[in-house]
Amino acid sequence: MKITIISGTDRPGSFSDKVSKFVRSKYESLGVDANVASLTEFPLQSVAGGKYGKDIPELKSFNAQLLDSDGWVMVIPEYNGSFPGILKMFVDYLPYPGGLNGKPLSFIGEGDGSFGGLRAVEQMQMVASYRDAYIFPERVFIQRVRKNFDEQEGIKDEMVQSLLDKQIKGFVDYIGRLTATSVPAHS
Ligand SMILES: Cc1cc2nc3c(=O)[nH]c(=O)nc-3n(C[C@H](O)[C@H](O)[C@H](O)COP(=O)(O)O)c2cc1C
Repeated sequence: MKITIISGTDRPGSFSDKVSKFVRSKYESLGVDANVASLTEFPLQSVAGGKYGKDIPELKSFNAQLLDSDGWVMVIPEYNGSFPGILKMFVDYLPYPGGLNGKPLSFIGEGDGSFGGLRAVEQMQMVASYRDAYIFPERVFIQRVRKNFDEQEGIKDEMVQSLLDKQIKGFVDYIGRLTATSVPAHS
């Protein structure tokens, strides 16, 4: 099983990147082939000018690291009551079909405030549902991330840490169930 963790901002040194790497190590400890795709690497200059549907080698190469994954974990910070614009650019430049459609998705929100990216995650869930993704229902929110998260220690709040562990195991199980089940062929 391969899972890609999408770090949902292009802000250098972001908490999203740090949380994503921490989450990657958690998936790896379960034997999952996990990688981080950071939007700091998204080829914004190459898509500028509305090149939707065009053949863009830099975009293809960015997407190559995640399109064949069995599931995506989106780590999303809250920017102005929503998710970062670069995350919408990423979604808008995904291939269709073959991007979000039918993709198992899990969400982690983070933010400086007391809602931990709740609004950002819920708004992205709306987009992903519209695009027919399979949304894993257990979301995790890291509130006051500056205080509650450390690269070495991980999440300092025990309850949030245990919710994350439960989400990770549950998402692996969810993907396993989705891929194992098939509709019997009509005779
Ligand atoms: C452009 C911008 C807008 C932000 N807007 C909000 C906001 O609306 N609500 C909030 O709680 N925090 C807001 N923040 C703070 C971020 O959510 C917080 O710093 C978060 O940890 C940043 O995540 P990052 O390190 O992954 O970029 C904003 C930060 C930036 C850079």
